[in-house]
Amino acid sequence: LPKTDRKVWTREDVKRALPIREANSHKGSHGKGVVIGGSKHMPGSIAMSARAALRSGSGLITIATVDSAIPSVAPFIQEATYMGLEENDGFATGQAPDLSGFDGVAFGMGIGRDPDTRGLLEGVLEKVEAPLLIDADGLYELPLDQVRARRNPTVLTPHPGEFARLAEVSISDVIAHPFSLSRQFAKEYGVYLVLKGPSTIITSPDGEQLVDTSGNAGLAKGGSGDVLSGVLLAMMMQTDSLMEALANGCFLHGSTAEHLTVEKHSMTDLLANDVIEGLPVTFRTFS
Ligand code: APR
Ligand code: MG
Repeated sequence: LPKTDRKVWTREDVKRALPIREANSHKGSHGKGVVIGGSKHMPGSIAMSARAALRSGSGLITIATVDSAIPSVAPFIQEATYMGLEENDGFATGQAPDLSGFDGVAFGMGIGRDPDTRGLLEGVLEKVEAPLLIDADGLYELPLDQVRARRNPTVLTPHPGEFARLAEVSISDVIAHPFSLSRQFAKEYGVYLVLKGPSTIITSPDGEQLVDTSGNAGLAKGGSGDVLSGVLLAMMMQTDSLMEALANGCFLHGSTAEHLTVEKHSMTDLLANDVIEGLPVTFRTFS
């Protein structure tokens, strides 16, 4: 296939491309990741991202969040380590911490839209050499020139509303022309773009596109995106090809919602946390 053709990512593709755990693997083989986000009134998002990243095979996960949120999050995620962020009015502020030891970074889930957080984001964009995923409020006032200037991979994971704002087009344009707008944007800014929706389009900086059609309307709830970010971070750290990592992550997330709404839940009651706890069944179908 020419590089610009789009391909639907299937279960067979996941089977081939999913990271395996060798008998002699150690935690370092599966990536040391950090999730940066959360704020005083939104401490849950970052917890879900972290837990999803852990459930998806990461070797180690650090949660970097505002100091005041750590006591409420830490009892629920004992496998993680914690890094406190300076805060102002409940929002993260200050300079970016030292992130040099990490194999992957995910930024933005539940971080809020306070202007005082901007310096932190700028520092992250400038300093992080590992693959960097930016989601949710991290996308809100994203300095795109700084994104373009990065020498290391950047992954943006907007839903159509977030993408419309980034690309300065209307949401109806995004819905009408998701492939061409994704490709144009990914090439212009040199990013991997995951445009989420009932179908999710994954585009590489050179315009290659993969499509994930898994999932259902049970995922149309706050928190689903935070879970996806965690799964993607884990895959990014364990897979050589970022495109395959992102497509695998989208498939695992969506197909977990599918089996849960057949076996245990309905699309009405499914929660983001159920998806995290449904990942083990999905992984077992690949082992
Ligand atoms: N079919 C399949 N997948 C779906 C569907 C659907 N009908 N609806 C949603 N999804 C999937 C998407 O593909 C994506 O992976 O669920 C996930 C939703 O991600 P987000 O849109 O980022 O959702 P989330 O961040 O959890 O919640 C929405 O975003 O704009 C903010 O403030 C807004 O709180 C809101 C939040
Ligand atoms: Mg979101």
